[in-house]
Amino acid sequence: MNYNTLENADLADKNILVRMDLNVPVQDGQVSDTTRIDRLKATVDFLIKSDAKKIMILSHFGRPKGQENSDYSLAFLPAILTARWGVEVGFGENSDARVCLFENLRFNPGEKSNASDFAQSLAAHGDIYINDAFSCAHRAHASTEGITHFLPSYAGMAMAAELKALSSALEAPTKPVMAIVGGAKISTKLSVLHNITKKVDFLVLGGAMANTFLLAQGQDIGASMCEKDMVDEAQNIMRDAAQNKCEIITPLDCIVTEKLEENAQYETTTLPNFPSNKSAIDVGDKSIQNVCNILNDCKTLLWNGPMGIFEIKPFDNGTNKIAQHAAQLSVAGKLLSVAGGGDTVAAIDNAGVVNEFSYVSTAGGAFLEWLEGKTLPGIAALEQAAEKAA
Ligand code: 3PG
Repeated sequence: MNYNTLENADLADKNILVRMDLNVPVQDGQVSDTTRIDRLKATVDFLIKSDAKKIMILSHFGRPKGQENSDYSLAFLPAILTARWGVEVGFGENSDARVCLFENLRFNPGEKSNASDFAQSLAAHGDIYINDAFSCAHRAHASTEGITHFLPSYAGMAMAAELKALSSALEAPTKPVMAIVGGAKISTKLSVLHNITKKVDFLVLGGAMANTFLLAQGQDIGASMCEKDMVDEAQNIMRDAAQNKCEIITPLDCIVTEKLEENAQYETTTLPNFPSNKSAIDVGDKSIQNVCNILNDCKTLLWNGPMGIFEIKPFDNGTNKIAQHAAQLSVAGKLLSVAGGGDTVAAIDNAGVVNEFSYVSTAGGAFLEWLEGKTLPGIAALEQAAEKAA
């Protein structure tokens, strides 16, 4: 990957447009998780220190379908950005503040359609464009792709940190590499699984997705949730894995219950035994131990998706124990651990070890598309801009 970074940019006295992902989670009018905002402070600080004249922040929020809609206005954010970054942030294109946030880009249909005239009208505000939104890099929108055709373009600090972490986990990892892929459905992660079996030494399967693999191995899984129509695909993935010398690790024992609820009655069943009226909702101690033992010999871990139904206690035990073990190895400098995508951050957070992982990505769709091995248009645009500038 070859893109220009801020260290090489002449920023003094320049008007700078920075694409950020301020599509933050909001509950009861409050931002419930400021991680995305906090990670952007480094770029803002760097631009201020480099004497940038004006810093204009571009972002979307939700999916307002190309129309103005006050429910999706970004007007609530400048006060929060001001508090989190310690610098006054104004609102709107006409703001006099040195740092200002533009209104939701997706109010204009040209954002999503990547209309050249909209990209050009955004570019007209600045001298330099910075993309600091990895989590939007899977979108070829005017503010992530189109604009790079009109301005010198750079990766921001958060973007560069994310690309470095992701590339050291999948593109050029220290081996052996383990991937943990959990979650409910194989069907949503087919391309991820196919790509990953080519790259890692161990693929640990968790969540209901593991049940479909157990079924494909001829294992009785009682009343467990699974995708019967995906059994052939699971067998293809196992075949791919064997050809690529990627060992697939499925559960050795499962926590099973008749009724899924908080404090439900549950028991551990060791495979191949499986009670016909019960469902697997987490992995058992033998499986946890097995994964932790293999992990002890690994140098890199890539994690997407929980091992069990972590939202309901105590069925977060498998995810928690494995995440805590990975965290310990990471803190001891023995493992590079990278996690992301969907509810993975919430699962690792629930285990209390977000800060001990080497890198936790807040990207959802972009993280998954990267795991699939797809070219992300936002990154490709930065690479092309760097090539053009060279
Ligand atoms: C995200 O939250 O994953 C990004 O902001 C992308 O949002 P989108 O799926 O609406 O493009």
